[in-house]
Amino acid sequence: MTALPHNILPFVHSLLSQHLKAGDCVADCTAGNGQDTLFLAQSVGKTGQVFSFDIQEIALQNTRQRLQDAGLIEPVKLILDGHQNIDCYIRTPLDAVMFNLGYLPQGDKNCTTNVDSTMIAIKKSLKLLRKNGILSVVLYGGHENGKAECVAVEAFSGRCKQQDCDILRYQFANRPKTAPYALIFRKMADEIIFRQPESI
Ligand SMILES: C[S@@+](CC[C@H](N)C(=O)[O-])C[C@H]1O[C@@H](n2cnc3c(N)ncnc32)[C@H](O)[C@@H]1O
Repeated sequence: MTALPHNILPFVHSLLSQHLKAGDCVADCTAGNGQDTLFLAQSVGKTGQVFSFDIQEIALQNTRQRLQDAGLIEPVKLILDGHQNIDCYIRTPLDAVMFNLGYLPQGDKNCTTNVDSTMIAIKKSLKLLRKNGILSVVLYGGHENGKAECVAVEAFSGRCKQQDCDILRYQFANRPKTAPYALIFRKMADEIIFRQPESI
């Protein structure tokens, strides 16, 4: 891994790998083909716990296969449900949460994440995140749902008090505006206070 990755996902992985350790408890809110779930399982090891959500059975099958091939199915709980219901499955504090928004690569492009459920899931995940925990969101503005998600997540970030949460943007300045980028939240308070009009 170079110090300056050419793509967004390797950057997010390299950042999270500096933060995570064996035994940690984490969530992948968009399992997809399992690359992020596998990365998380490798990071927390067999003593850790990974919760991995997707609404498509095919995504969980692909993720399960990837984990089995790597001999790392043990720490992972695969959940066929929307990430907006994360609080129904997880009660313990999380060390990290990953979102990789959009549609399943090589899958049904009409089945994408949706702004309303995405925002519910991000808010609930920030509550579940322990102090000093990290939440990453990879956003794709290249399709309609993705654009709406970019607008909503950006607006939400703007309302988050600076002393409660660092929010870092990783974006290529010389790529199209629709190119994927990441927002990284580092929770610094037990509870995050948001400015009006909305609170979590
Ligand atoms: C860009 S893919 C994720 C890629 C994945 N992280 C990987 O490493 O391969 C987005 C995934 O989000 C899933 N998804 C869409 N809406 C969802 C929801 N409400 N809850 C959980 N997953 C959802 C899609 O089915 C799709 O598999």
